[in-house]
Amino acid sequence: MTKQSELQELKKELEENDPTPALRSTATQLVFGDGNPEAQVIFIGEAPGKNEDIQGIPFVGAAGKFLDEMLASVHINRDDIYITNIVKYRPPNNRDPLPEEKEAMWSYLLAQIAIIRPKVIATLGRHSGQAFLPNLRISQDHGQPTDISIVLDGHEEPVIILPLYHPAAALYNGGLRQTLLDDFQVVKDILSNEI
Ligand code: URA
Repeated sequence: MTKQSELQELKKELEENDPTPALRSTATQLVFGDGNPEAQVIFIGEAPGKNEDIQGIPFVGAAGKFLDEMLASVHINRDDIYITNIVKYRPPNNRDPLPEEKEAMWSYLLAQIAIIRPKVIATLGRHSGQAFLPNLRISQDHGQPTDISIVLDGHEEPVIILPLYHPAAALYNGGLRQTLLDDFQVVKDILSNEI
């Protein structure tokens, strides 16, 4: 089976198991993930927003546009990455996802990672970062690749987590813009085997 068809199967499984029925009932549709199943990097946000809910694709709103800009600044194409969220339905009025919603979706995220087997997992924002690095302090730890192990397909596997600020943070705080752009260079360096 190709990675693409494995992801398709996983998406079907998520829809059938319906781990967050309340969220599904208020959302327009599932926002499972998008991009290249052969990607060396997965970006993980928090949860879909309004535009993502309408289009069924992660990071297509204002934060997504800035993400595209940052990728372009280090010559990475959106077609070269895979992108998803911890929680895969839009929470009502964009409220923060609840701990139990993140918990319910966690095994699906790990299964996506197990299929794609990226070289680096870039988390976007504190909530996504803390899902992998519980003691993360984003202001201190952003841009620093961290080796951890996670259970993929029943085995402990080493992965590199690169915690990044959420692109939306730079839309509210212009000072973070350059910080994020600098941190995207770290993504590029990891992918070019320079770290
Ligand atoms: N913010 C997120 O965390 N995810 C999206 O898909 C869009 C905005």
